[in-house]
Amino acid sequence: MHYNLALIGFGNVARALARLLIRKADLLKSKHDVTFSFTGISTGRHGFAVNPKGLDIQKALELVESGKDIFPLSSFDVKDSLAVIQHSQANVMFENSPVNTQTGQPAIDHIRTALELGMHVSTANKGPVVHGYRELTALAESKGKKFRFESAVLGGAPVFSVMREAFPLAELESFKGILNATTNVILSRMESGETYEQALNHAQSIGLAETDPTNDVDGWDAAIKVAALATVLWNTPMTPQQVNPTGIRGITFEMIAKAKADGKRYKLVCSAEKVNGEIVASVSPQLVDSSSSLYGMMNSSTGITFRTDVVLDYSIVLSEKPGMTGGPVETAYGLFADFASIVK
Ligand code: HSE
Repeated sequence: MHYNLALIGFGNVARALARLLIRKADLLKSKHDVTFSFTGISTGRHGFAVNPKGLDIQKALELVESGKDIFPLSSFDVKDSLAVIQHSQANVMFENSPVNTQTGQPAIDHIRTALELGMHVSTANKGPVVHGYRELTALAESKGKKFRFESAVLGGAPVFSVMREAFPLAELESFKGILNATTNVILSRMESGETYEQALNHAQSIGLAETDPTNDVDGWDAAIKVAALATVLWNTPMTPQQVNPTGIRGITFEMIAKAKADGKRYKLVCSAEKVNGEIVASVSPQLVDSSSSLYGMMNSSTGITFRTDVVLDYSIVLSEKPGMTGGPVETAYGLFADFASIVK
C-alpha cells in the first residue's frame, strides 16, 4: 500500500524522521510492501507546502536548513497547519509542533482534524497526550484509526507499548527515573566545571533542548512526561500543573561541587506512585549517591524503572553513546516505530 504522509511541525525531530523514513524505505517495501510520499509539510517559520501527488522532500529539507521558505514546493496556496492537513490527502499525520504544556494546543486541534479526516496519527508531542488522551483515543477508535505517541517519553525506547502490551493485567504501582535529558546534560557538565549557560548552550547546540528551553530547566518537560505516563498507564487524567515541578535553576555551581565532594550528585528525579488509589507525582532536583541507579546516568542518558505487583522492578535505560547525543534521531525512531506498527 502507498501512504501519503503529512508532517505538521518540521523541526529537528520531524526532519530526522523524514531522513529515517528515506533510509528505511527499502525495508518498508520489502517487509511490508509499503511505499510512501510526503504530501503536506507545515513549519513554524518556513511556511507551508501541500501536494497530494508528493512533495520533493530533499528540497524541503534543504530549503528549511538554509533558512528558506518551502512555499515554492506547494501545488497550491495554504496558510496554516489545519489547511495543510485538510488538503494533504494524507493517510498518516505526524504531529510535532512545539509542546504546549499548559493546554496541549494547537496540537489537539491538528490531531482531531486529522482523525476526523480518517488519518492515523503519531506524535512526539506530549501536550495532546496529557490534555486530550481520552478524547483523541476515543475519536481514533470510532474512526478505526490509531493515535500513537511512543516517542513522547524516552524517545525511541518503547515505553507505552511495553507497559500496555507486554505486561498484561500487571498493576503498575510506581515509576521513577530521569526523563529530561537537557537538565541531565546541564547538571553533568556543571559537575565537570562548565557554567550553567555554557551547559545549556551545549544542550541547545545538539538539538536536545525544547524550542523554549525554560520548559526543560524549569521541569515542565519532565512534568508533562510524568503526567503523560500517569494519564495513559493508569488511565487517570493528570496535567503537568498537577505535578507542579521544581526545576534546576536553584542548583548552583557551589551546591554541585559540594555534592561531588560528598560523593553525591543532583539529578532531576521524576516519580509517581499510587497510594490508596491516589496518584502522587513529583519532579524535583534530588541528591543521589552511588547506591542509586540514577547516579550513573550522566549527560544525555535517561531512564525509568517501573514497579508492578508482579515484576518488581523493570528498568529501561537509554545510555549515552560515545560521539552521539541521543535526541532527535532516537525520538524520530519512536515516530517511525509507530508508523511501522500502523502499517502492519
Ligand atoms: N527536551 C527534551 C529533553 C527532549 O531534554 O529530554 C526529549 O523529549
